[in-house]
Amino acid sequence: MSQDYWESRYQEGDMSWEKGAPSPGLVDFLAAHPELARGTVCVPGCGTGHDARAWARAGFQAFGYDIAPSAIRLATRRTRSAKQAHLDTAPEIPATELPLRHEMEERAGERRHVWVEAGTAFHQIGPPSPRPSPAPSSREREKTSGAVRGCARARLSAQFQVADFLQATPPFLFDWVFEHTLFCAIQPQERDDYVRALLRWLKPGGQYLAVNYLIPDRDGPPFGTTRDELWQRFPPHFELLQEWVPRSYPNRTGLELMLWWHRKG
Ligand SMILES: C[S@@+](CC[C@H](N)C(=O)[O-])C[C@H]1O[C@@H](n2cnc3c(N)ncnc32)[C@H](O)[C@@H]1O
Repeated sequence: MSQDYWESRYQEGDMSWEKGAPSPGLVDFLAAHPELARGTVCVPGCGTGHDARAWARAGFQAFGYDIAPSAIRLATRRTRSAKQAHLDTAPEIPATELPLRHEMEERAGERRHVWVEAGTAFHQIGPPSPRPSPAPSSREREKTSGAVRGCARARLSAQFQVADFLQATPPFLFDWVFEHTLFCAIQPQERDDYVRALLRWLKPGGQYLAVNYLIPDRDGPPFGTTRDELWQRFPPHFELLQEWVPRSYPNRTGLELMLWWHRKG
């Protein structure tokens, strides 16, 4: 479907998919997996951003993309409001109480030093700044605790940008791609493009988590799919880690299938 089609759905408020909350299956997945290394996640077809904010709240660096500019405007505005509400209530955490570790990471050909705190990373290019010492001077303490508060606050930040997932060049390769009602929103004849795009956006060894919508409809969007189709399209490039029927929004109960894939390296 074209950008004009999706943009006019937003402009006319014709958004039957908009549930005002993230996918219940995603919420349960994130709650069940606190052990996962926190990294970058791409949410294509992000709509108003509920799922991207759920990833960000869980400590991932979340990036939402949508072909409709109005979706991105709404997602950005809602994230700003949610972040402000969080800032108003978030407790200050002294820098010395947060575990920090240093990691190197390579992104878009650039080596970066990062300080990682409970899954949220600060990036810098060039030499690492000194690790906050256990007993910093009062001046350093002020500087560091400000940075770390910023880090805790950053958990509610997610970034959004207009992009056609099927055509665009990603800014870098993501650790995760999260699918939720984009696969069923595009024309079925674009599904080969979808798999090619997925391989373009996701790093080798990365993870693809999908909430698939198993409905029979041919006159979408949404366009239906079957478990058989999914098992034909993804295994050439992915190994399945887990498959389950998730908790769903009330009108989708029993119609969703979650598949957690690992991209072959
Ligand atoms: C059914 S809505 C789902 C939105 C969101 N995932 C949710 O569940 O609330 C499909 C979304 O995908 C977007 N979309 C459609 N084709 C796209 C494409 N090629 N690239 C990026 N976004 C696309 C639409 O603008 C729309 O926001």
